[in-house]
Amino acid sequence: MAELRAALVEHKVLFFRDQHQLTEAGQVAFGALFGELEQHPFAPAASGHPELMVLRRAPDTPVGRAKYPYGEDFWHSDVSWRADPSFGSILRAKEVPAMGGDTLWADMEAAFAGLSPSMQEALRPLRAVHDFDKSFGPGLPPEQKVAMAERYPAVEHPVVRTNPDTGAPLLYVNEPFTTRIAGMDIRESDALPRLLYRQASKPEYQCRFSWRADSVAFWDNRVTQHYACHDIGSGVREMHRVTMAGEAPH
Ligand SMILES: [Fe+2]
Repeated sequence: MAELRAALVEHKVLFFRDQHQLTEAGQVAFGALFGELEQHPFAPAASGHPELMVLRRAPDTPVGRAKYPYGEDFWHSDVSWRADPSFGSILRAKEVPAMGGDTLWADMEAAFAGLSPSMQEALRPLRAVHDFDKSFGPGLPPEQKVAMAERYPAVEHPVVRTNPDTGAPLLYVNEPFTTRIAGMDIRESDALPRLLYRQASKPEYQCRFSWRADSVAFWDNRVTQHYACHDIGSGVREMHRVTMAGEAPH
């Protein structure tokens, strides 16, 4: 555990091939070694394992852009719309398509370091508003939306947060969940986040993983963003995820 935790701090995402022996209960137990497990309020879980989130894409489950304007094919940090976004996730490939379906991760410390010193200084005091409603709101019935907004009101996080393990600064805004920069009017707040979202999409800061059945990825959600490629055509892609609770960004 200590070795894996240290490797995660160093590399931000870890990959394991051929974990054929890993059961659903085993994945849940493995995740629980690294923190309290949490459930995603908008995603289905595996039967018998409420902590095991099922991400399935198949020809009969097309991307619902009418309901959900954003999806996994946008750079994001999971649940940044919560006061205490998750620490990390462990994702296991149950079923992979013949081709496509890679996941990419971006190192948001590198993304911050890649900005000019004057931009870094300008960003440090800023805070941004994150809200589940931007991504999930359009797909929710009105009463459920009201209930979720009570449970998960919009939150403010620093635009530049600190890696809790190393103290390194990193860029912490993402397009599907960040709605604006706090204290700015909408003209300023429209332009600046767009510029910052684009930092995650620079290949220099990324790695890309091609899944095989029973591949596992373990990422630090505090310091990375990820992007799931929607290029599987008529293939089927099913992933199982456990997610460990984190703390409020500072
Ligand atoms: Fe995600």
